[in-house]
Amino acid sequence: MKLNIKGITIFVEDYYLSMSKKSAEIVSHQIANKPNSVLGLATGSTPEGMYKELIQLYLNKKVNFDNITSFNLDEYYPINKDNKNSYAYYMNSHLFNHVNIDKDKTFIPNGKTENVDKMCKEYDQMIYDVGGIDLQILGIGNNGHIGFNEPDVDFELTTHLVKLDDKTIEANARFFANIDDVPKFAVSMGIQNIMQSKKIILMASGEGKAKIIHDMIFGKVTPNLPASILQLHNNVTILLDKKAAKLIIN
Ligand code: PGA
Repeated sequence: MKLNIKGITIFVEDYYLSMSKKSAEIVSHQIANKPNSVLGLATGSTPEGMYKELIQLYLNKKVNFDNITSFNLDEYYPINKDNKNSYAYYMNSHLFNHVNIDKDKTFIPNGKTENVDKMCKEYDQMIYDVGGIDLQILGIGNNGHIGFNEPDVDFELTTHLVKLDDKTIEANARFFANIDDVPKFAVSMGIQNIMQSKKIILMASGEGKAKIIHDMIFGKVTPNLPASILQLHNNVTILLDKKAAKLIIN
């Protein structure tokens, strides 16, 4: 089902798998149209299926990552890149190790840097120098965060150090042996980086996301729900499974 609400294109697919295939299709069309695209990549459980589909498309010679540059949205801080919970590790295991992307052109905020401010400025500059992000992929937190832009966000920020919301620490504890092991900080692209992307796709699946999806689309644009800012972007596609779309379809 395809909807258009407030200028936002919304695809509602029956299941997580079909939603993942649809997102992979959008990414592969982007790459076919512009083989040297700059992709903004997300982590978390939501995009895992999309990455699986992209690997499949690559193995079937339907997509070629040869000229792709990528920037990840965020990384925990502090964390080593070989820590299994780092987003650097996630990207290698879920995508980069399985496709022909040039790893020298994949960028993830450095979770181990001693000079965070300098690293953030350099990250923004690198994105700028390659001409900006063509297609940004997003998930959404239960609290409405995009990247690690937590409620009460400053919409003006670019890449910056964030203190993680208690809800985010709780939500992400499932990946760690103990909740105390979840890093308390992260480095994240800011809302400004996200809003400057030429196109955005946001994915959500499961009933747990239904309310936040409803509110981000129908509610006011507010720093209390960071994803609500996407109402002001002119090229956003939201991909949902039926459960996440429960409150926006009849
Ligand atoms: P999830 O996380 O995909 O694991 O639900 C989404 C997010 O926190 O942005």
